Parts: sequence; C-alpha cells; structure tokens
Amino acid sequence: MSAPPFNDRFLRACRRQPVDRTPVWFMRQAGRYQPEYRRLRERYDLLTLCKTPELAVQVTLLPVYQMEVDAAILFADIMLPLEPMGAPFRFEAGVGPVLERPIRSAEDVERLRPLEPEADLPFVLEAIRLLRRELQVPLIGFAGAPFTLASYLIEGGPSRAFTQTKALLYREPALAHRLLERLTDAIIAYLKAQARAGAQALQIFDSWVGCLGPSDYRTFVLPHMRRLFAELRGAGVPLIHFGVNTGGLLPLMQEAGGDVIGVDWRVGLDWAWERLGYRTAIQGNLDPALLLGPWERVEQRALEVLDQADGRPGHIFNLGHGVLPQTPPDTLKRLVTLIHERTERPTTR
Ligand code: CP3
Repeated sequence: MSAPPFNDRFLRACRRQPVDRTPVWFMRQAGRYQPEYRRLRERYDLLTLCKTPELAVQVTLLPVYQMEVDAAILFADIMLPLEPMGAPFRFEAGVGPVLERPIRSAEDVERLRPLEPEADLPFVLEAIRLLRRELQVPLIGFAGAPFTLASYLIEGGPSRAFTQTKALLYREPALAHRLLERLTDAIIAYLKAQARAGAQALQIFDSWVGCLGPSDYRTFVLPHMRRLFAELRGAGVPLIHFGVNTGGLLPLMQEAGGDVIGVDWRVGLDWAWERLGYRTAIQGNLDPALLLGPWERVEQRALEVLDQADGRPGHIFNLGHGVLPQTPPDTLKRLVTLIHERTERPTTR
C-alpha cells in the first residue's frame, strides 16, 4: 500500500491559497477530554509527558489519528522555556502553572538567563524531529508571547485582573520593557530552533494580552511583537498570532505581524476579518463551551462560522480557545467531519 499523500490544506490556508476543504484543528486537541490522555496522566505528570519525546509524540498523535484534523500541534507547554531561564515552576492541579518565585525587581530580571534551545530544551526539538517522520499533516510548533509569559512571571501564577503585571508596566516601564525584551529574545531563539527541527508553522500564544487596552498594547507590547515577527519571518514557515479577548486589539496585532490571526468567539468571525481588511488569514472561532451542549446547536453555530468566512481563502476552522476537559470526544470528531463535508470544493490547483 502506498503512503497517503501529505495533507497540506492547513498550510495553503495559512497562505490564503484556495483549498479543497476548510482545514480544521483544535487548540488543546490533546488533553484531558481524551480517556487515553487521562490514562497516561495517571502514570506520568504533565512535565514528564512534555520532557519525554516518545511520550510527547504519542500524545501529539492521538487526536490526529482519532479525528483526522488537518494539523498536529506539538505536545508541550508555553511555560517550558522559563525553567532553564532561571524561573522554575510547577503545575498545580486545578490552578495551573505556579512560579517558585515571582519576578518583580530589577535584580530578578537581571538574573534571568538567555535561552539556548538546543541545550535547554532538547526534548522539544527531538519530539519535533520524531513527529515529522510520522505525520502526514503539518506540525505546528508554538511558544507563549512575551507579555503572556511575563504575566505568569510577575503574577507568580494564573490571574484574572493582571494587577501586578499592570502595576509593573505603569510604575517601572523601563524594567517591564527589559523583562519583555529578554523574553522576546528567548522566544525568537526557541521558535527558530523549532522551525529548524521541522515545525512547519509556528503559533504564538498571547493568550492574556486582551487584558490591555490599545494604548498600552501599543506602548508595551507592539514593539516587542513587531521584532519577534520580523525575526521569525526568515524561518520561512507561516506564523499564527493568537490571543483571547482581543477584539479591540486586532488591527494592532495585525500591525505586529503574523500570516494568520487567531480570534475567540467574543467577536464575529466576519467582523474580525473585515477589521483585518482580509489581508491576513484568520483562525477560529467556535466557543469551546458549545461542545458541552446538544449537537444541533454545535452544528448550527459551526455553520454560522462557515457562513461568516463566506468561502474566502484563508479561513482555518478552530475553537476560540482550548478544548475543555468535559468535552465529549465524539462531538469533536463529528465537528471535524461536518466542517470537511460542508466546505468541500472542486480542487482548484
Ligand atoms: O494540544 C495542544 O494544544 C498542545 C499542548 C498545549 C499545552 N499547553 C498542554 C497542556 C499547548 C498549546 C499549551 C499552551 C498553553 N499553556 C497556553 C496557551 C494556550 C491557552 O490556553 O491560552 C497557556 C496559557 C498555558 C499555561 C497552562 N498550562 C495553563 C494555564 C494550564 C492549566 C490549565 C488547565 O487546562 O489545566 C496548563 C496545563 C496544561 N498544558 C494542560 C495541557 C494539556 C492541562 C492538562 C493536564 O494537567 O494534564
């Protein structure tokens, strides 16, 4: 039997080229909603899964074989680079990542070490190399954006209001910029190394930047993100720029960079794409909580998203944020099939 041909519709959509079907993948497509993942987690903690290439590969592949999604996302976490930089953390059940020591003073920032991805995170790069041998769909590498990582460092863990983070921006802007600059250096090196190892697209998660208004985004975030995207353009792979609650920031995020902008369900996909002037591809944006309700509603809302995309090249179907642990796996699988069936087009190559 000959090997199945490589499925490139995700990469084509990133470049706003016509596709035979709208590509679909899900943030957190590997995770606790899967019984197989939960079984692995009984034996290994999250960091062990991330740091053992064979296990990370196994977990990455689970949803690809189960659901026929059009892209794989490396199983890792945005927190991984922080430990070798000198900011150790742990994952606390029901809470999330918790830093051993929050970073708030000039001394704390100066103590951060530059990241050397090959030496510091060899397991991530090895998982990428192993995955490329297996996959017939593109492999997405990723990293947290500087602001989102800084928010964990400064708050010491997850936060709702990001008060400490904002206090640092406003009280000590030079120090905040220095921290963001160091994180930007690290993330550029890390993502370049992922591309060299074989990642075929890179997603930058600025998950919590939506807590800022446009002026503060322009002052504190834009310069660093602009540099990050400019540096990564040379990697030669599509770049996805994702944030939550970023309706008011979309033009600025576009200015920062990215071939694809990811949006959540708080904005209509059509409204968001219009704001972007259709000059970038768009990824999103079904509310993950919809998948906890009846299939009829999932279907109706998913078709609404497709209507809003209106058949334009450059739509990548996804949720507006990660799959929730309570999600029935079968609903997710049905959703992949629905998107593929309802967007089938004559091949236009
Ligand atoms: O399938 C995938 O999407 C790839 C794997 C992935 C993980 N984390 C594994 C993980 C990805 C892309 C991430 C990114 C990540 N990590 C982000 C950005 C995306 C987003 O959600 O906005 C953030 C903010 C983090 C930090 C983080 N890691 C948090 C806040 C948590 C706790 C929340 C939770 O769901 O429990 C984690 C833990 C984590 N990272 C899990 C997974 C699958 C939870 C599962 C577990 O404990 O086994």
